[in-house]
Order: sequence, then structure tokens, then C-alpha cells
Amino acid sequence: MSENSTSPSTTQDNAPVTVLGLGHIGLPTALGLAELGRQVIGADDDARKVGLIRNGDPTFYEPGVAELLAKHLKSGKFQPVDDVAAAVRAGSIIFICVGTPQKTNGQADLGQVEAVAQVVARNLNGYKLLVEKSTVPAITAQWLKRTIVRYNSGKASPAPGSALAAPPLAFDVASNPEFLREGKALEDFFHPNRIVCGVESERARDLLVNLYSPLKCPLVLTNTSTAELIKHAANAFLSMKISFINMVSDLCEKVGADVGAVARGIGLDNRIGPQFLDAGIGYGGYCFPKDLRAFIHLAEEHGVDFSLLQEVEHINQSRVDMFVGKVRHAIWNLRGKKLGILGLAFKAGTDDIREAVSLKIIETLRDEGSILRLYDPQAMPNTQRMVPASPQVSYCTSVDEVAQGAHALLLLTEWEEFRQLDLARLREVMEVPVLVDGRNLYDPEAVHRAGFEYFSIGRADPVPAGMHTSPGVALK
Ligand SMILES: NC(=O)c1ccc[n+]([C@@H]2O[C@H](COP(=O)([O-])OP(=O)(O)OC[C@H]3O[C@@H](n4cnc5c(N)ncnc54)[C@H](O)[C@@H]3O)[C@@H](O)[C@H]2O)c1
Repeated sequence: MSENSTSPSTTQDNAPVTVLGLGHIGLPTALGLAELGRQVIGADDDARKVGLIRNGDPTFYEPGVAELLAKHLKSGKFQPVDDVAAAVRAGSIIFICVGTPQKTNGQADLGQVEAVAQVVARNLNGYKLLVEKSTVPAITAQWLKRTIVRYNSGKASPAPGSALAAPPLAFDVASNPEFLREGKALEDFFHPNRIVCGVESERARDLLVNLYSPLKCPLVLTNTSTAELIKHAANAFLSMKISFINMVSDLCEKVGADVGAVARGIGLDNRIGPQFLDAGIGYGGYCFPKDLRAFIHLAEEHGVDFSLLQEVEHINQSRVDMFVGKVRHAIWNLRGKKLGILGLAFKAGTDDIREAVSLKIIETLRDEGSILRLYDPQAMPNTQRMVPASPQVSYCTSVDEVAQGAHALLLLTEWEEFRQLDLARLREVMEVPVLVDGRNLYDPEAVHRAGFEYFSIGRADPVPAGMHTSPGVALK
């Protein structure tokens, strides 16, 4: 513990909840629990981050989080600390919200999870319920149990079924996978579709059921391995839906069909549902790519041929080439062309650029020799750390600046701000009025009326008047 480190000042009596890891999941979870009336200690081993959070800076952009942070720093219901061991000692329910990045082979790297489990083991001072919220492969809960017993020098033991029978140093491990979406984290915390709790004792079950009792939604109570698998299966299924509609969109372009109408036509079927049927440049972000790979790895490890998921990943990766091909199709040679990039975040509502498709598109276009001008309402500081400004890449402060002298605008993130563009005005400042839309954000007719050539995904783009080379032959 460093001299300036911060420790919780609560007692065991008010049975606080401890959240380990104050990132995109941990911080909204901690604040959500505080809002539900619990006393919450949030611990992170990154002392700089904790310092910022203590000063009211969430350290990332997520709607509503800064306001809720201010509220519960003031109410005292949320206490951010960097002394992880003290936070463990002070809590009775301990949520693990640390990162589970991927290794080079796609397997989940559970080093951070083991690290906090060891801290828990060494700081057991009474019954603890250790809850996995981080996304982990099935059977991780068993490893957590083993780890706690090992590093507690044999003093700890998993609690038997009854709360009354639990010895003083007993503990339970539960799985409570998180489904919240970045950009809608608080909305999802307070209005989840469902809560999944994998438990192995009545005591663990009762603690979690009680904790979430203010939230009205279906509760899936199961064992830990099933709960762990539900999370990976959910993300794999959603990734599959995206790759599916993306392949349908390719086919739509070939046969002159409209992928938006196809998505609506199939999505109205209750068995399919309308969500995750937006054709585009593919999925990115911290969860889908890594969780899919971890699931594939888990299947391989257990000798299950889940090659369907390999194809899902392959399709997703090929979207970058598909999109760059579209840009080439729109403006011919890429070298020396000025391209305005609208959107860097992996999706709207966040400043997160982890595994953002935009980064791969930028890299490819830069390698092709294009001059790139970038803009995003929230994600520019994070992107600048990954892609420093250079003679080929510059950062702009507005869409107007991006459009200045551009040979094309490329829409990569579906920010609300971009839906409202004054295209007629942008057209005036561009070298060539071309818009390549990776998210199908616009009505093709409206874009054409504004004087743009428009290229989108899976839609038979109408060719504007005057663009025909000869009767009946369209430039496309
Ligand atoms: N981001 C999402 O949308 C999302 C959604 C559902 C589930 N998840 C899962 O939740 C987990 C966390 O994801 P995230 O996006 O919040 O990651 P993150 O990187 O934003 O946050 C992780 C935090 O854990 C802290 N940490 C690491 N080791 C620690 C330790 N030993 N002690 C204390 N703190 C430690 C880090 O400093 C960091 O602040 C991952 O397993 C992820 O797959 C994420």
C-alpha cells in the first residue's frame, strides 16, 4: 500500500458491496448498486484512475455516469479506493469486474481474475461471496474456488448449502455475467432484459436475489458453469446475427435488393427479432471479437467442432476489405485522395475504440496513401494515442473541417450528430461530393437530393441524374 493510497472507511456492520475493477463495467455497476441503496466500495489497482474517479472524472465517456458519480461521491454511498486488499476485507459481496483480454491464440487471459482472487484469498475475514461479472470461460468459478483455498493457506473452505452451517472463513463463488452495452450502461443496469445468477449454495442465491430485488426483470438462476456459458453463447449469437445480415447485404447488392427491407421483413418474425440486423462494416469493441474467440477456443479445448463461429469471425474480418473496396469503387484511386472520416468509436455513445473497425479501415487507407482527416464527438483522445497525427492523418474539431477539400466522406460510427448533417452545406466545401456510408445512416434519396453520390451497404444505390454513360448503362 503506497503512502497516498486510499482505503475504505466503512465497517462490516453495513455489509458493503465491493466492486473490483472500476472500468466500463465496474464503475457503472458500482454506481448502479449505490443508486439501489447499497454501500459500495469500488477498488482499482490503478491509483491514478482512482484519483480521477475520486475527483468526479469517470475516466471514460458513458452517458449519465459522471452525474451519478457526482451524486454518490456526495452521498457517501460510493467510495473509490486503490487499496484492493482493504476493499476486500470491507465487503461481503465482492464483484470481480477486471479485464479479461485475449491471448494471441484467442484464449481468454484470466491473469487479472486470478490476481484479484489471490487478494481475496489473503484477505478473507469472514464469509465472502465472490461474484464473477467479468466475462470468463465456463469452469472459471471452479478455478476461483481452488485459488482461494490455495492462497488462503488452507484456512478457507467453500460454504456448504446452508447459511447457518457456514464456518467463519467460508466463501462462495457465483457467476453473474454482465450484459450491459457501452453507451447504454446505466439504462441497461436499471432495466436489464434478464439477470443471470449462477450459484452453488442457498446463501449465495439469497444474497444475489436480495441484492437485485429492486430490479424488475426475469431472473435466470442456474449453476456457475451454465451462467458462464450463457454469456459467451449470447455474445456469439449476436455476432452471428451481425455476420449473417452482412452476408445477406452482399447478396442484396448483387441482385438489386434492399437489406434494410430484408432485415425488417425477417426481423418482424418473433422467432428472429429485429435487433442486430443492421448491415455495415462489422462488429468491434472490447466484447464481441474477444468473447467470440474465447468461445471458439473453449469449444476447441473440449473437442467440440464449432466451426460455424470461425466463419462468423471470418465474415466480420472481411468487412474491412469490403468497405475499402467500396471506397475504391466510389473514388477510383486512393493514393493522395483526401478522405474525411466521420466516427472512430466502435459504436455510438462511447469513447471506446478497443477493436474498433475504424482503426483497421484507417490503417488500410493510410497504407494505400490516402490523406485522412478524422472526427469523432468523443473518441478522438483515445484514437490519438493509437494513431498519432502525422502528415497523412490529422484530427479535426468538426464535421465541416473534415469535409473541407475532401474527395469523399466515410461514415463509420452511427453518432446521432451525424444523422443531422447539413449535406447541402458540406457539399459546397468538398472537392467531390461523395458519401460512403458504412452504417446505412441516411435515406439514399435525401442524400442524392443534396447533390451527393452515395454508396451504402446492401442497398441498390440509385444513380443520380446525369451519371449515365450511355442509355441504360449506369455508372456504379
Ligand atoms: N465493456 C463492455 O461493454 C463489457 C460488457 C459486458 C462484459 N464485459 C466484461 O467485463 C470485464 C471488464 O471489462 P471492462 O470493459 O470494464 O474493462 P476495463 O479495462 O474498462 O476495466 C477493467 C478495470 O480493472 C482494473 N484492474 C485490473 N486488474 C486489477 C486488479 N488486480 N485489481 C483491481 N483492479 C484491477 C483495471 O485497472 C481497469 O480499471 C471484462 O471481462 C469484459 O469482457 C465488458
